[in-house]
Amino acid sequence: MSIIGIDKEKCSNCNQCIQECGRGYFSVGEDGQVLFNDNSIGCNICGHCIAICPEDAIETKNLDNVESYSGTDSPENFVDSDKLLKFLRAKRSIRRYKNKKVPKELLEKVFEAMRYAPSAGNARAWRYLIVSDPEKIKKLDEEIIKVNYEYLGFQSAEQALEYMKSSGRTLFYDAPHLIVLYYRTVEKHTVMVGLRANDAGIALTYGMLEAESLGLGTCWIGMVQGAVARNKEILKILGIKGMVLGAFTLGYPAVKYRRAVPRPPLKIKGLD
Ligand SMILES: Cc1cc2nc3c(=O)[nH]c(=O)nc-3n(C[C@H](O)[C@H](O)[C@H](O)COP(=O)(O)O)c2cc1C
Repeated sequence: MSIIGIDKEKCSNCNQCIQECGRGYFSVGEDGQVLFNDNSIGCNICGHCIAICPEDAIETKNLDNVESYSGTDSPENFVDSDKLLKFLRAKRSIRRYKNKKVPKELLEKVFEAMRYAPSAGNARAWRYLIVSDPEKIKKLDEEIIKVNYEYLGFQSAEQALEYMKSSGRTLFYDAPHLIVLYYRTVEKHTVMVGLRANDAGIALTYGMLEAESLGLGTCWIGMVQGAVARNKEILKILGIKGMVLGAFTLGYPAVKYRRAVPRPPLKIKGLD
């Protein structure tokens, strides 16, 4: 367990941790002092007790240091809503990249953003892989085309590969990096598969938005995840085991878009 107690010297018995924790880790003792109970149904380390405590009195073990910075009580002040909407509207999936690797400091920022994505039950079961070897990306491209030739509109894998070769097209758009999100175990239960897929979508989106804010481009490549289940060679090339639930290309865009694009209105019930 990573939340291990309360620093009694610091605790002001404000009871905020009791109200915040849905799992009964905190209660009031007979003397009116807040108690830490480690007999509850299991902490998922959501960290709300840490976040809410005015005295920083929650004791932890094996967790990284809680970084303190001003403004976490009003996150809306970090971004301007109109600017955020403009940013989201201007973000495009990038399919043309410069032949230039992204420096490690920026790659780390993209991963750092994905670290803060929410996940069902705070499971954070995802793992990541970055592929930056062009030969490996080429091999992946071929193996994925082999199992997706019909989807791509070809009669056979050979025909698809021949077309891609002669037209100079690639599934990964010659991006210098491919970021893959995977799980070590293959989920069998449909509910869990759905939740893991949700987690993957959110986490990768966090990474793609961070990349956009750094002047980088990304494109989710949906064919990767589907192909993995049908061609085990792909896992071998990636050097991983388990289940892939998302992947995106990453690099410097070789294109600048001049305007936002139209989108159909949402169909929303109940918003009168
Ligand atoms: C789950 C998912 C899978 C996608 N798979 C691919 C893909 O395999 N190849 C590709 O070029 N774009 C892919 N895209 C990008 C979409 O085509 C793109 O988001 C959509 O056309 C809207 O364009 P925009 O992202 O530039 O606004 C995928 C996007 C998502 C969310």
